[in-house]
Amino acid sequence: MSKNNLIALHCFGTEVGKIGFDEDRRASFFQYNPAFLKEDKYHSLFPLVFRRIPQTQVFSKYNNDTFRGLPPAIADSLPDAFGNIIFKAWLENNKKALRQISPLEQLAYVGQRGMGALEYAPAKEVAGNKTISIDEITTIVKQVLDHKQGTSANSLNHESLLNIFKIGTSAGGARPKILVSQNKATGTIIPGDLIYSADHDHYLVKLAIEESPAYSHELTEYVYYRIATAAGITMMPSKLIDDRHFATLRFDRQYGEKQHILTATGMAGWDFMDPKVSSYENLFELAIHLKLDHKDIEQLFRRMIFNLVFANHDDHLKNHSFIYDPPTDKWSLAPAYDLTYSLNPLLNYTQVSRALSVNGKRTSITLSDVMKIAGMFTVKNATAIIAEINAATDLWDVYAKEQHIPINAANTIKKHFMVLE
Ligand SMILES: Nc1ncnc2c1ncn2[C@@H]1O[C@H](COP(=O)(O)OP(=O)(O)OP(=O)(O)O)[C@@H](O)[C@H]1O
Ligand SMILES: [Mg+2]
Repeated sequence: MSKNNLIALHCFGTEVGKIGFDEDRRASFFQYNPAFLKEDKYHSLFPLVFRRIPQTQVFSKYNNDTFRGLPPAIADSLPDAFGNIIFKAWLENNKKALRQISPLEQLAYVGQRGMGALEYAPAKEVAGNKTISIDEITTIVKQVLDHKQGTSANSLNHESLLNIFKIGTSAGGARPKILVSQNKATGTIIPGDLIYSADHDHYLVKLAIEESPAYSHELTEYVYYRIATAAGITMMPSKLIDDRHFATLRFDRQYGEKQHILTATGMAGWDFMDPKVSSYENLFELAIHLKLDHKDIEQLFRRMIFNLVFANHDDHLKNHSFIYDPPTDKWSLAPAYDLTYSLNPLLNYTQVSRALSVNGKRTSITLSDVMKIAGMFTVKNATAIIAEINAATDLWDVYAKEQHIPINAANTIKKHFMVLE
């Protein structure tokens, strides 16, 4: 490993190892810190892909947009589609181009502000305001997105962009979002990137960019959240801010601590864009491999049924995560997130296929397909779970109306529900 091209990986206050990157081969290296291995703790921190050996491990098969050449668990820390738009605008504003930045340099910008508990050192310092206004941030994010189509980001206000850079590049996903923390006693909202404590509620906020849009993804996501939790799906408590932005408490910041989390993609190295590996069977296999409790297997089944019945097609492998418990060295299923109608109901689609296949199918999935999965993974009360989710479709009209989803959009979404019987 060349010295200049190294970054240290930390977790729970310990240096776990070092990551290297070979620009020419677009391959990465990982070597455990001997002291970490000797401590003999956190055996299952990376339960797949990494081997717990003192020798340097080479990763050469992850040279694509999802992993950028990095080991999958590390690539989970990189900005995703929306984060990269912000990253690019911020670099442009600083007279740099994204292609000049290596994945390791990008990890240095992540530093201690990444999702989960993985940290990178040395980190690049990024200053910013101590408190923030969601309204102001939303305006700037809109400007950045408007600028995306070719126009230069130089005209954007440097300070404002800096604030968004701090809190808008860590979380994955394509939709505009920021991380904020709210003081439980005073209500003050501060950037959610670095500070964490039991005195704060830590939120991931999906921003409603348009003031009064014909249709709001955020309101629909809130309705889905209400229905999903009513139907027994475990999710983090969520709410609307100013009746328009969807805010969900972060499961990677709980009890005043950072929680180590990995997406299914980061855990197993399955590219969420690759249909060959994108199946519910793989997700269940992974859950079994991690020795998840039976209640988690059941929860995953309930989530799969919910996604089918409520036409959430965007159920890809980065939309499922696992959470690590340091004292027991065990993994469990993270709460569900990004459960929503993923298409635009104001547009027409001929045929839509879902990200994760069920019994080899991405369309026209039937009761017998899901019962096959129930059999394969011994989900005992499958019939009762399916009946409960089917029944929850009755909640749509009521909750959609309460949230003022326009009636034509609500009806279009409802047409895509698929009661399994
Ligand atoms: N409550 C939460 N706590 C911690 N992390 C979360 C939470 N909700 C989402 N995340 C993380 O943030 C990422 C982005 O969130 P989400 O999937 O809701 O956004 P999105 O932009 O709609 O995604 P997509 O591109 O799949 O549509 C997720 O992939 C997940 O890793
Ligand atoms: Mg998502």
